[in-house]
Amino acid sequence: MRNDDAPLIRLEDYRPSDWLIDTVDLDISLHPQKTRVRALLALRPNPAGKSGAPLVLDGDELALKALSIDGKPLDAAAYTATPQALTIPSPPPHDFTLTVETEIDPSANTKLMGLYRSSRVYCTQCEADGFRRITYFLDRPDVMSVYTVRLEAAKAEAPVLLSNGNLVATGEVPGSDRHFAVWHDPHPKPAYLFALVGGALDHVRQPYVTADGHKVELAVYVEPGKADRAGWALDSLVRCMRWDEQVFGRNYDLDVFNVVAVSDFNMGAMENKGLNIFNDKYVLADPQTATDGDYASIEAIIAHEYFHNWTGNRITCRDWFQLCLKEGLTVFRDQEFSADERSRPVKRIADVRTLRSTQFSEDAGPLAHPVRPRAYKEINNFYTPTVYEKGAEVIRMLKVLIGDEAFRQGMDLYFERCDGTAATIEEFLACFAEASGQDLSHFARWYEQSGTPTIVASGRYDAKAKRYTLDLAQSTPPTPGQPEKAPVVLPISLGLVGTKGDLPLKTSSNAYAGDGLVVLDGPSLSITFDDVPEAPIPSLLRGFSAPARLELDLADADLLRLFSADSDSFNRWQALQSIATRALVAAGRPGADKQPLAATAAALGQALDAFLSAEGLADPAFAAQVLRLPAPADIAREIGRDVDPEAIFSAHRSLSGAVGKALIGHMPGLSAALATSGPYRADAASAGRRALRNELLGLAALAAPAKGADLCEEQFATADNLTDRLAALAAMTLIPSERRENLIARFAEAYAGEPLVLDKWLMAQALIAEPGTLDRVKKLMQHPVFSLGNPNRVRALIGGFAANLTQFNRPDGEGYAFVSDIVVALDRTNPQVASRLLGSFKSWRMLEPRRQRFAREALSTVARMPNLSRDVADIAERALA
Ligand code: TRP
Ligand code: ZN
Repeated sequence: MRNDDAPLIRLEDYRPSDWLIDTVDLDISLHPQKTRVRALLALRPNPAGKSGAPLVLDGDELALKALSIDGKPLDAAAYTATPQALTIPSPPPHDFTLTVETEIDPSANTKLMGLYRSSRVYCTQCEADGFRRITYFLDRPDVMSVYTVRLEAAKAEAPVLLSNGNLVATGEVPGSDRHFAVWHDPHPKPAYLFALVGGALDHVRQPYVTADGHKVELAVYVEPGKADRAGWALDSLVRCMRWDEQVFGRNYDLDVFNVVAVSDFNMGAMENKGLNIFNDKYVLADPQTATDGDYASIEAIIAHEYFHNWTGNRITCRDWFQLCLKEGLTVFRDQEFSADERSRPVKRIADVRTLRSTQFSEDAGPLAHPVRPRAYKEINNFYTPTVYEKGAEVIRMLKVLIGDEAFRQGMDLYFERCDGTAATIEEFLACFAEASGQDLSHFARWYEQSGTPTIVASGRYDAKAKRYTLDLAQSTPPTPGQPEKAPVVLPISLGLVGTKGDLPLKTSSNAYAGDGLVVLDGPSLSITFDDVPEAPIPSLLRGFSAPARLELDLADADLLRLFSADSDSFNRWQALQSIATRALVAAGRPGADKQPLAATAAALGQALDAFLSAEGLADPAFAAQVLRLPAPADIAREIGRDVDPEAIFSAHRSLSGAVGKALIGHMPGLSAALATSGPYRADAASAGRRALRNELLGLAALAAPAKGADLCEEQFATADNLTDRLAALAAMTLIPSERRENLIARFAEAYAGEPLVLDKWLMAQALIAEPGTLDRVKKLMQHPVFSLGNPNRVRALIGGFAANLTQFNRPDGEGYAFVSDIVVALDRTNPQVASRLLGSFKSWRMLEPRRQRFAREALSTVARMPNLSRDVADIAERALA
């Protein structure tokens, strides 16, 4: 179907299914090309639906082999079966069973949706609508069924057979080389949570007893020979299970919990009930093949998928418009877990960086949409930073607004009231309104309105009256389909910082909620603080209490004072980011004067120098964040229009180089003091020391290239872990030279046979900000490790290139042409990966006119291709609209 013909699905058109399916008995006989699926469905008219309605089951590329009702084969005139649907116009008007047989070819399934093979392992991916590629079904999340699954396969090919729930039987198939396993999941679930795995897999396991006394066998399955890399994932699982018991009172509810790592996977991981399936990149870790960042993401994603067991599975979504109900909430939960396991301020800074770079940019471009979209053509295109990350911010704001206690009570109420149901955002919010006694109807606008609000703030101190007045105003720019914006509820955590730290906050304003919280819910407000003994510096949006832009015109000197005196770590970090951003925005405009940049470089260099001496060793992870300037893409987004990537990049390079020069005296001493001794440890403190050292290494490469190259070579040779070796490679990529090319070659030799490590090697090269990169990337596509069939390889090399600000946006348009050609080629085999890659064009409208022209041409060429997938056509169409 052409996208022009694809129907627009609307939230307002929701109506309950006419039919329900109480139980599903699946009998699946695995075969590489001819897998047989027999599904026995117990159907029942939905009292909430239309009675006497036809039965229309969803399909996708299916072939029907047999069909019967209550055990009797159905007359050919009584139904129609196409690859997309099985229709029975006049089904029995009462409960009945339907037996559907289909045959599918997992080896030919390159879309990686439904049942497919990944390196000889059978696996499934059913969210959002992959189950209909296995059998005809009511493939919608509000149809929930109890599943019993019999899996059969050749013993040699698939000694391990897994599905959801608990194992109830295993056995041999007499007179054959085949065996079977039967799994039963007592918890009713929507089809998108179904999963199976079959293959030769190794595993590690650990018994676990829940707080409420349930014995559970935990296991992590990996490709043969990789079990020694599964320990960190298993350890993370145990820790997040305990945490969910302690912080949210949630216990696990089956006898087994299995995690399986596969090497071909469209996204990060999937929360199938009792059988989470993961991209192996988010499971496998040892010090030689995973970085500190990988250890942290594994911990976070293991937790994310596990947390879905309650927020997603026990309580699922009524329809896909409610996606943020499970995703925003579960991201919030995994962020909180990581904050508790590691450093809360450092985690917050990292999350806000991600939010700004991925979500703010989405919200500022043609693909902007509300946290709860109102219409879609292809739901797979709505697994976005807005639904996930902004969705998590909305939950965080809710917690700030109603307080920790009411938030926990609201969550308890939600778990109690909605357990076992397919719920909506309205039902979720009602629990918090009830628990807090607050009216949340205005707050709900966060789910409806797209765009990033801007808060404009200014303050005045009246020395005579000892009074400080803060004026606050908000506005949200127009976004596609939403020209008019209304004010949202903005919780603004704040402090007034005096020479000796925070001043007491005294006010009679009813916008003040106490505990340093001001709520701006109208277009503007003015709030007066009394008995302020000295002229304060306002510290606003502490902890980034709302996902908004803040415009507050503070002098560099005031920001420097916040950096040294603010009690809020996030705003200390933000103060220096603000100084750098302002200077880079000024210098990054075409034809801009570079003079102010030199002044800022001097001020920043001095502040950082003092900071490193005073507290660089006290909290190295925080110091590493402080040293990392905003990225060129952040500056481009701040400038917002007529963007010239080269001008921004060159300003960024010169500021980084100058800061590096100011710090270079520190480097040898600090690097030595930060060196970790003994064997590699993945804990946050050790990782923080490496992060700071490696941040300094990158600055050295820019400030003193020859010396920097020495340091990179030395670190590469002596490091005992991938984090430090990769950092050496990354820093070296900043230094164009023969030495760089040698190190690149040595890295590839050292990690031959390690595709996940080579992904980082591909990406590091794709990110080189030089005109030669396009040819380099084209050449790397011929490297034996690269394959368009593997999503991780594509994301590393092509996705890496598309994230390269200056080279994707080459002035000759060749970057766009290259990426769009790949999108078209990839669309034939894997539309989901192709459409995500096309999403790299999301910021094209902020570019200067010449680049815009080239980008539009590339997008239009894609849009005009015949036989595009709905996924790619939808993105192209919206990006061009
Ligand atoms: N629900 C998954 C998560 O956030 C992600 C997911 C959605 C996914 N669709 C997918 C994963 C398709 C793989 C393929 O945890
Ligand atoms: Zn999720």
